Amino acid sequence: MKLFLDTANIDDIKKYASWGLVDGVTTNPSLIAKEKVSLEKRIKEIAKVVKGPVSAEVFSTDAKGMVAEGRKIAKWAKNIYVKAPCTPDGLQATQILSKEGIRVNMTLVFSANQALLAAKAGAAFVSPFIGRLNDAGHEGMEVIEEIAEIYNNYNFKTEILVASIRSPRQVTESAMLGADICTVPAAIYDKLVKHPLTDSGLKKFLEDAKKAKLI
Ligand code: G3P
Repeated sequence: MKLFLDTANIDDIKKYASWGLVDGVTTNPSLIAKEKVSLEKRIKEIAKVVKGPVSAEVFSTDAKGMVAEGRKIAKWAKNIYVKAPCTPDGLQATQILSKEGIRVNMTLVFSANQALLAAKAGAAFVSPFIGRLNDAGHEGMEVIEEIAEIYNNYNFKTEILVASIRSPRQVTESAMLGADICTVPAAIYDKLVKHPLTDSGLKKFLEDAKKAKLI
């Protein structure tokens, strides 16, 4: 499974990219707005730090505008994926852009039916927001399971990019369901590697080594 960072903060991206385990980056208008920088400037910076897919979302809501923006964004770097929301206009834009070889990450997806349409439209990635589904009282992981089954049934090439992740457990469950990608906020990235028994075990090893004058 690929692990993406879900942030537009360039310092966080550089920090975790240095671990060598960041396969891509996703952003959205809210994450860009937090950084108080232009979309173009920040996406170009990110695309230089991370060689994997970097998602940048269009601001337009009409198909014509999304296509024009998508064509512009895609030119900023070779590893850019254009994010478009799962709306009728977003689906129309996705069909046009994907036929031109521009890879689309269909975002703001909350149901298996939306994911089915995204795949039919030719999206490269589909981004179901499981955290927001859970916040609304639904079971986000069930939607991932449904999408995975549907995509397997029809051999869709669209990759499942689990988004809106709130806990390391959701990464585990996504991997168990065969999701292709999880996009993870920086704070959760730390939690993927941290375990108190690892820390205490390492501490004990070093103490014993010191006692035996090995170090
Ligand atoms: O990539 C989508 C993600 O950023 C949304 O996460 O926490 O705003 O639901 P969240």
